Amino acid sequence: MTHKIVTLPGDGIGPEIMTPALELLNTVGEFEFEEHLFGGASIDAHGTALTEEVLAACRQSDAVLLAAVGGPKWDTTDPDAPRPEQGLLGLRKGLGLYANLRPVKPLPALYDASPLRRERIEGTDLLVVRELTGGIYFGEKTRTATSATDVCTYSTEEIERIARTAFNAARTKVSSVDKANVLETSRLWREVVSQLHAREFPHIELEHVLVDNAAMQLIATPADFDVILTENMFGDILSDEAAMITGSIGMLPSASLGDRNPPAAPTNPGLFEPVHGSAPDIAGQGQANPLAMFLSAALLLRHGLGLESEASAVESAVQRALSSGLRTPDLGGDAGTGQATRAVLENLE
Ligand code: IPM
Ligand code: MG
Repeated sequence: MTHKIVTLPGDGIGPEIMTPALELLNTVGEFEFEEHLFGGASIDAHGTALTEEVLAACRQSDAVLLAAVGGPKWDTTDPDAPRPEQGLLGLRKGLGLYANLRPVKPLPALYDASPLRRERIEGTDLLVVRELTGGIYFGEKTRTATSATDVCTYSTEEIERIARTAFNAARTKVSSVDKANVLETSRLWREVVSQLHAREFPHIELEHVLVDNAAMQLIATPADFDVILTENMFGDILSDEAAMITGSIGMLPSASLGDRNPPAAPTNPGLFEPVHGSAPDIAGQGQANPLAMFLSAALLLRHGLGLESEASAVESAVQRALSSGLRTPDLGGDAGTGQATRAVLENLE
């Protein structure tokens, strides 16, 4: 049976990096692709960033591949105007994708592309496990002429399931990141993570780190981390910071997953997307680095479809292309999207 992949190119550089990703996927396997409008492109056509039809199509697919959304055209502070990012949040929530995995493993070929010194980043191989459907992103929001609020809520159930994902992914250690010296949600987070650890994962080391301190350690000693477990907004911020360890945010892929076997419903498909945005400043110039998109396609193959050898083939091709000198502008070189794509395809075995 051919796997059905819904593709959401979105906005800005999105379409430019989606096309080569599909070329890459077609080289490693046989898939059925179904493309839909999403984000700003969907606002222009339908007045909303995510239509019911597109959400339904995603639900019926085996995996969803997303490029990027947003752009100055849709930037607004008007609380009633539609925003492209609402599509992304609606999709994550609508598919129950509470577990966001962001692996950060700088490739030796790129050690010198990072603003951090080689000695600091050498050996770094960490995974950010970010809670994706709760917290301040999804709490009640209010706005008057002179004040605004965003409520941050977490339930024990939400904390426990993401903590379980983190412990299962850990080889040696989970660093649970919170702000327990200030926030009530963080104190609950800490308790629930500790209890689950004691009950089910005593063989994994657990440390609790305050988020400000974690931000510092991430730059000072990134190689000391194994799995970083954290709530929605802290994970958003720390993963952009962690991206610079790999040399460029143009290198970081992500996977968003729900429950593998939810009790009542059929399994929801995973969502795979690069961590970077739609880069409107370089859109349409053929300069976008497609590598995070390719690595996201690899995560789709591995976590979304269970195609491990195809996934590693893509990852190795990216590594070999970089080792042979491929550098896009964000990595200090001048290879455009097309050249980067050819370099990776040529290295596919
Ligand atoms: C990310 C992005 C999104 C987020 C935005 C675009 C809503 O920054 O995936 O990290 O904040 O989750
Ligand atoms: Mg972000």
